[in-house]
Amino acid sequence: MTTLGTPLSPHATKVMLLGSGELGKEVLIALQRLGVETIAVDRYDHAPGQQVAHHSRTITMSDPAQLKALIEAERPHLVVPEIEAIATPMLEELEAAGTVRVIPTARAARLTMDREGIRVLAAETLGLPTSPYRFCDSLDELQAAIEGVGGAPGIGYPCVIKPVMSSSGKGQSKIDGPADVPKAWAAAMAGGRVSHGRVIVEGFIDFDYEITLLTVRSLGAEGQVETHFCAPIGHLQVSGDYVESWQPHPMHPAALEKARQIAKAVTDNLGGQGLFGVELFVQGEQVWFSEVSPRPHDTGLVTLCTQHQSEFELHARAILGLPVDTSLRNPGASAVIYGGMDAVGIVFDGVEEALRVPGIDLRLFGKPESFAKRRMGVALARAVDVDTARSNAKLAASKVRPRVV
Ligand SMILES: Nc1ncnc2c1ncn2[C@@H]1O[C@H](COP(=O)(O)OP(=O)(O)O)[C@@H](O)[C@H]1O
Ligand SMILES: [Mg+2]
Repeated sequence: MTTLGTPLSPHATKVMLLGSGELGKEVLIALQRLGVETIAVDRYDHAPGQQVAHHSRTITMSDPAQLKALIEAERPHLVVPEIEAIATPMLEELEAAGTVRVIPTARAARLTMDREGIRVLAAETLGLPTSPYRFCDSLDELQAAIEGVGGAPGIGYPCVIKPVMSSSGKGQSKIDGPADVPKAWAAAMAGGRVSHGRVIVEGFIDFDYEITLLTVRSLGAEGQVETHFCAPIGHLQVSGDYVESWQPHPMHPAALEKARQIAKAVTDNLGGQGLFGVELFVQGEQVWFSEVSPRPHDTGLVTLCTQHQSEFELHARAILGLPVDTSLRNPGASAVIYGGMDAVGIVFDGVEEALRVPGIDLRLFGKPESFAKRRMGVALARAVDVDTARSNAKLAASKVRPRVV
């Protein structure tokens, strides 16, 4: 049974978000609506989620000492990681000591914080289909992994090279031949989150389409864990970063069944309660596991206009032990609004024109600083079908024009 308290009182239900970007902001709003007392943590002041939480804290979340001190001082009931770059071994320690519950589990946060933990789990422990892959610590190793050594076959071309620690396509390249390998290695070294020179090289999967299958582990009436699936979300990635997503994406029933089996296997293993974004590649009836976020997924922003409960509301409910409803309300699409420039405190023209597009909603995240390729907002379109929704979302996003004052 879940009992919820009154915020800012001795019986408050307290939740701490580690990472308070645009996804965390929506989780925080969902928690606020249930009267939860919220603490928004980020590495910089005035992060989007800090603007809607009861309390804001700014620390280096990858520093175990700072993380421990903050959790021990605040004593939240739940710690909800929103980003990957966190001192997850410290979370495991605090969870093991019974100091705090980590969502979905501290182990899940650790395994998904780099590409190696989750890939080894999915491919080697669970035996799920993935792209062929190798991990390499130097340019020489990378060349050998692609080309093969001593008659053993390599990954071959085309292939994709990524730092083991990175997100949003940073440091990632797709290459077609041997001449491109040194450049891809250098890009991975420059784009990785921490300077540890390890990369994954993956065989390129020539998929028909890719989806995010939002998967929720929540509690049923008897306190048992239940797995629920949202309708598949299709998306378009440019240089490894999401620019458009839509829901539902039509799938062959056999492919959908396989996608659900893969998502169930991964999320059962990661355990705990909450929503997961399972990324899958699909070609005909064949499905490959790509990666998983143990938290709301950026492509799932579309659920703000398509589902009765958005992925953020689903996450909030699931982590609190409340029932969830993953049903689709109507088709819809999202289109990203980039900053287009490096500047602090920018303004946005054209918002009223954007909102005149039929079925449109908008989120401007309130990020204090814009970068050319930073996601500053998103246009959300609901429509009678996905094609209409996609073109309306793109149209509305194009009407919003960031500008320096
Ligand atoms: N092995 C692959 N084959 C084909 N496309 C890939 C492969 N790996 C990544 N991609 C493309 O790049 C995108 C980003 O890669 P991903 O591994 O999800 O990185 P990130 O963690 O930055 O999201 C994927 O959504 C997909 O479009
Ligand atoms: Mg991804």
